[in-house]
Amino acid sequence: MTFAALPLLTLALAGCQQAAEEPAVAEEGTAPQVKLPVPINAAMVGIIDQSADYIWAVGNGDLPRDDHDWDQVRGAVYDMILGGQLIQIEGTGEYDAQWVANQDWQKHSNDLTQIGQDALPLAEAKSTDVEAWRAIGDRLVQNCLACHELFKPEVPSQGILHESTVRESLGESIFD
Ligand code: HEC
Repeated sequence: MTFAALPLLTLALAGCQQAAEEPAVAEEGTAPQVKLPVPINAAMVGIIDQSADYIWAVGNGDLPRDDHDWDQVRGAVYDMILGGQLIQIEGTGEYDAQWVANQDWQKHSNDLTQIGQDALPLAEAKSTDVEAWRAIGDRLVQNCLACHELFKPEVPSQGILHESTVRESLGESIFD
C-alpha cells in the first residue's frame, strides 16, 4: 500500500464506524445488553473457522513444533469454547436475530463449545495423540456440516479465506 492510499483508507474506516450503532454503557449495576458490532458471519470466519483450522491441523498429523505452536493450538481451543457462545449473540447480519432465536442454532453452537472443552485437556497437556485430536476434529466437521445444512444461505454474506486454510489445502504446515 502506498502512503497516498492511507488517508483514504482512514476516511473509509471512519465512515464505517459512524454508520455503526455506538455500543451504549449500561446504567450502573446493570449488565449491558451486548450485541456484536459485526455480522455473526464475521465471528464465524474470524473465530470459529480460524480455530477449527488449528484443531484439524493436529488431527491431520501437522504437529506443533514448539511452545509457540502449542500456544496457538491452545488459543484456538479457547476460541472454539468461547466462539460457540459468541455466535449466540445477535450481530449486524441480516439473519442474525432469527438464527440466535432458533433452538437448533443454540444446540449446534453449544456443541462447538463442548467440543472445545473436550479438546482443552489435550491442548493443556500438549498431547501428540493424533488419534484423540482426530476424534475431536471429526466431531467438529459433523457439527459444522449439520449447522450449515440447516442455516447457511446459498450466497454467503462475506467471503474471507484464511491463510491457514490455504496452507492446509496445499498440504503445507499451518505453523510458521
Ligand atoms: C450454529 C450454526 C453453525 C455452526 C455450528 C457452524 N456454522 Fe459456519 N456458518 C453458519 C452460517 C449460518 C453461515 C453463513 C453466514 C452468512 O452468510 O451470513 C456460516 C458461514 C461460515 C463461513 C463463511 C464462509 C461462507 O461460505 O459463508 C465459514 C468459513 C464457516 N461458516 C465455517 C464453519 C466451520 C469451520 C464450522 C465448524 C467448526 C462452522 N462454520 C460451524 C452457521 C454455522
